[in-house]
Amino acid sequence: MSPAAPALPLVARTAAELRTVVAGWRRDGARIGLVPTMGALHQGHLTLAEAARRAGADRILFSIFVNPAQFGPKEDFSRYPRREAEDLAKLAGIGADLAYLPTVEEIYPPGFAFSIVPGGPIVADLEAAIRPGHFAGVATVVAKLLIQAGADIAAFGEKDYQQLLLVRRLVRDLDLPCAILAVPTVRDGDGLALSSRNAFLTEAQLAVARRLNRILAEIAAEPGRLAAGPDRLRDAGFDAVDYLVLRDAETLADPVPGRPRRLIAAVRLGATRLLDNLPVA
Ligand code: PAF
Repeated sequence: MSPAAPALPLVARTAAELRTVVAGWRRDGARIGLVPTMGALHQGHLTLAEAARRAGADRILFSIFVNPAQFGPKEDFSRYPRREAEDLAKLAGIGADLAYLPTVEEIYPPGFAFSIVPGGPIVADLEAAIRPGHFAGVATVVAKLLIQAGADIAAFGEKDYQQLLLVRRLVRDLDLPCAILAVPTVRDGDGLALSSRNAFLTEAQLAVARRLNRILAEIAAEPGRLAAGPDRLRDAGFDAVDYLVLRDAETLADPVPGRPRRLIAAVRLGATRLLDNLPVA
């Protein structure tokens, strides 16, 4: 006899359903951990849940919502992978308590008129310059999800490093009572950062993609190699280098001696953009 499949998590499709479940958990004194995602879940997402549990979350809820507001008109919103059944099975496998799968109308009801537009040095360039409006879309949906879920802890991956800093700033500036947990990037055996968009890569592109982390590690070990980095990446087979920069790890300003630094890159393989970053000692 094969072992029984683990029970699927509860599913909420409206904010009202979500609130009802969370209110029950709160009455029992549980701390709520939220993992905000756009689905097509991989080990990187599941690791966020483990980290939230270790940080004290008693109940884990995942939001799965492909947020149209953070995609530009020429970006991959319509082809972004959507795998609800597989995602729910993965959440069952890690014992997640609830999956929140709102519709676009639930998050952006007819007449929706407000959004959060971030400012300041964190959004001065990098993804903000390449994807105008992207971080307003991210900030708005993350604020809504944190408020709807009443989360005590929310976990974000370091892979989207600028997003992580933006979310930290968001909760500080809007007084959202939620601790933001930064979780190191999960990589495959060759060092490729796990990402739902890796599904778009062909075998040949994957072979090139796996070189990114190695090249970044060389530069992180010897930052004097930074200037030659874009050529090195193009020689390795990347079609374009959107940016490769060394920045202050907390403010994204230019680095100053004695403060933590981060090497941050975005490259392109065909129509797919890959982001990665590493700490620099
Ligand atoms: O990183 C993501 O998957 C998304 O930007 C997020 C944080 C779930 C907001 O839509």
